[in-house]
Order: sequence, then C-alpha cells, then structure tokens
Amino acid sequence: MNIILLGPPGAGKGTQASRLVEERGMVQLSTGDMLRAAVKAGTPVGLQAKAVMEAGELVSDAIVSALIGERLDSAGAHGGAIFDGYPRTQAQAEALDLLLDERGEKLDYVVELTVDEEALVDRITGRFTCATCGEGYHDRYKLPKVQDTCDVCGSHEFKRRPDDNAETVRTRMAEYRAKTAPILPFYETRGLVRRVDGMAPIAEVGAQIDAILDGAA
Ligand code: AP5
Repeated sequence: MNIILLGPPGAGKGTQASRLVEERGMVQLSTGDMLRAAVKAGTPVGLQAKAVMEAGELVSDAIVSALIGERLDSAGAHGGAIFDGYPRTQAQAEALDLLLDERGEKLDYVVELTVDEEALVDRITGRFTCATCGEGYHDRYKLPKVQDTCDVCGSHEFKRRPDDNAETVRTRMAEYRAKTAPILPFYETRGLVRRVDGMAPIAEVGAQIDAILDGAA
C-alpha cells in the first residue's frame, strides 16, 4: 500500500506517519526529514537547501524527486510507503507517478488532513522532537510521558526546528496554498483523495486514517 499524507505545515503528517510505521510496518518517506539530514551532514544538497528551508520556501523539484527515488526501493520490501511532505508541486506529483510506474507500483490513497490554519501556528511553535530518535512532541498536545525523557528511546535531549517560528510558518503556509493544494484535483479525478479532520485529537485522526486504509471509509 502506498499513500500520500497531504496537508499544510503542522497538519499532523509526521505524527500520523510515524504511528503508521510503528503499527503497520510501512516506510515513512519524508522529504523534510531527508533535507534536514542533508543540511546536518553538510552535503551539496544540504548546502543548497539550507537557506531555502529557513525562509520557508520550497526546495527545487529535481532535488526532492531524486531524494525520493533513492529511498523508494527500500519501501516496496516493507508494508508500503507513506509519502510525507511529498509531492508538493504538480511537477513532483508527475515525477512520483513515473517513479512508481517504473517499479510496477501505484498510489492507493491521498489522505488530505483538513485543518484550520490559525491553529497550526500554535501547533508548530509548540513542537519539539527527540534529538536522538526524532520522535515528535508538543508543549501542550503531546508531552513525553515522563518529563524530559523520550517515550521511544529514553533520551533527555530535545530540539526545535529553525523554521518553526511564526513568521516562517506564514511563508510555508502561503507556499502550501499556492503550490501544493492545487495538486489535489490531479488526484481527485483518479478517485484517490480521502479527507480526514486534522483538527480532531491525534488518536481520532489516526482512527480515521486506519478506517480508510482498512477500506472501511
Ligand atoms: P517538512 O518537514 O515537510 O515540513 P511541513 O510540511 O512544513 O510539515 P511539518 O513537519 O511542519 O508538519 P506536519 O504536518 O508533519 O506536523 P507534525 O505531525 O509534526 O518541510 C520542511 C521544509 O523542507 C519545507 O518548508 C521546504 O523548504 C522543504 N521541503 C520538504 N519537502 C519538500 C518538497 N517535497 N518539495 C520542496 N521543498 C520541500 O505536527 C505538528 C505539531 O502538532 C507536533 O508538535 C504534533 O505533536 C502536534 N499535533 C499533530 N497532530 C495533532 C492533533 N491532531 N492535535 C493536536 N496536536 C497535534
């Protein structure tokens, strides 16, 4: 099963993807995570992407589609792929079709997380992650069960993203409205789009996604 999780910054794509990895053995293909790893490692891609990401703008289609292509082969061997934060433009959507075609694969669902943009600023500015394993948390909505200790790996080190500030979030949302939301009709005509209320509590959003993947919605 191959699915796209689509939604603006802070909609909950990463949160739901990591749950699906844990519960269904799927592979999360997050271009944001791949780009952040490249920035951290100082690779040529990272050097190109750093300033663009800090400004909240989109990295070039060629770079992100190449990153996805490199990782896609490992996904087929598992329970399928969750595309998280990709595709984000029409060119990327077309590139993904080709990448899947070449591997004899197809998309099963495009799950759109519908959200209220104002609430997303609050979500994003409250977000932090484990510095060791990357598990995501929030100052109010998802705190570690034991204070200052990651639920998954037990680390005591946490970090925040440089692009998670109110000003950059506005640019990221504008990019979503201008370039990403317009790709929905491309998938709607193929009957692939399913909508989920991304404003519901995390567990409820998860239950709605499960119902879709299990063919019950
Ligand atoms: P990327 O890393 O993809 O960021 P994003 O799309 O802006 O999405 P986020 O990671 O901010 O949000 P999310 O939807 O995953 O929310 P999360 O689950 O963490 O991209 C970053 C940058 O990289 C881009 O701006 C661009 O520059 C570049 N880039 C990446 N991919 C690209 C591409 N394909 N093309 C070009 N450039 C690309 O949740 C947010 C917070 O809310 C968390 O704290 C969470 O605990 C909490 N939360 C989640 N769900 C709920 C809920 N239901 N209720 C309450 N709280 C919740």
